[in-house]
Amino acid sequence: MSGHEVPWTLRCVDTGAVYGGLEPRYRSDNGATLDVVHDFGAAAATIDLDAFDQRRRSKLAVDRSGVWRFRELILPVSADAPITKPEGNTNLYYSDSIARYVGLDSFGLKHEGENPTGSFKDRGMTVGITMARMLGMRRVACASTGNTSASMAAYAAQAGMQAFVFIPEGKIAYGKLSQALAYGATTIQLDGDFDRAMELVQEVCTSEGIYLLNSVNPFRIEGQKAIGFELLQDLDWTVPDWIVLPGGNLGNNAALSKGMSELLGLGLIDRLPRIAVIQAAGANPLYRAFRDGGPVHPLANAETLATAIRIGNPVSWRKSQRGIAACDGVVEDVTDQEILDAKAYVDAAGIGAEPASCATVAGARKLVAAGVIDSAASVCGILTGHLLKDPDAVVGYHCGELEGIDSRFLNAPIRVSAELGPIIDLVRAARS
Ligand code: F0G
Repeated sequence: MSGHEVPWTLRCVDTGAVYGGLEPRYRSDNGATLDVVHDFGAAAATIDLDAFDQRRRSKLAVDRSGVWRFRELILPVSADAPITKPEGNTNLYYSDSIARYVGLDSFGLKHEGENPTGSFKDRGMTVGITMARMLGMRRVACASTGNTSASMAAYAAQAGMQAFVFIPEGKIAYGKLSQALAYGATTIQLDGDFDRAMELVQEVCTSEGIYLLNSVNPFRIEGQKAIGFELLQDLDWTVPDWIVLPGGNLGNNAALSKGMSELLGLGLIDRLPRIAVIQAAGANPLYRAFRDGGPVHPLANAETLATAIRIGNPVSWRKSQRGIAACDGVVEDVTDQEILDAKAYVDAAGIGAEPASCATVAGARKLVAAGVIDSAASVCGILTGHLLKDPDAVVGYHCGELEGIDSRFLNAPIRVSAELGPIIDLVRAARS
């Protein structure tokens, strides 16, 4: 396939300048990000929701994948093109205790931490890596707070490509660092934050001809749209009133709104959900822009215990603001204390998720309390990463060792000598 033969193009979010669909390009000539624009054309008539439901039951990985099942809407390639694990098919949980905590009659939580490498990133990565292969790239790179690098390292290993990950030293959770090392990525720890790593990786990729797989890569965004598609499929193709999700580099919410707008344009749904993006209070440039009006201004020295979203200069801010406007969305921020309180509820319900994911729950609670989300509304939240991604946060919290955090729902391990008597006393005393 050459650039002009594929049914999609790349378009500058700022000027509308159009580029070929198979160029290894992440920004327009004026430096703005790019959208993949699909020409659904004649294919639009053949896209039907029943076919997506049938594929979900298939034994073929490409059809079962929660991304490639929707390939006509994501990247219309032949069924043998994708590099897939497969992704998706994540659970949509309903927990009474979490709904009560948030103040909702019912609250669905789609657990994207149940993807192959433990985070939602796999949905975008399968598309990014597939594109890398289509472009003949042998080396891939990303900057990451941890999950993108874990995902990229795993898919690069599967595809036989060399992976370079740029991570902020000391600010990446252990589970994620372990994955990058284990999957064989060349792991470059920088004495700078994520925002600096992001600047550097873009320059290295350009100068060394390495394919960049951060969500500035527009094909990553196409894959992320599938969270929304699969969520609607879980709901028998009904549209919830609200979808709540965390925001860091802002690719995921940009993808969600793009996907929903495309479904509406194709007549496959009859309204858009409202979107609520939740940021950590110490890393909240999108929230500030929403509150004050105007564009997003980078925030120096972003800080939060939810290291996944410790980002001050989000790459996809324009797409994010555009999507929030289209979906009548809102942006909220929550403190680390609110995030970890919410996490204690999510974990104790037997679901569990990493801190950044629990911003979803903390933010929903705040928006219900403020009357923005009605308690009777149909609301779904996205849990973006697995509990085991950040074991330090869990153990630190339950041992009361996180600085500045009141461990209100502490569940510390109890030390006891290895004798039957004291253990039995302890078990009897602990009986609830
Ligand atoms: N939740 C988790 C668990 C994440 O890892 C991230 C982003 C987000 C939420 C925010 O999503 O960036 O699309 O707004 N993690 C990136 C990474 C930055 O490098 O893994 P976003």
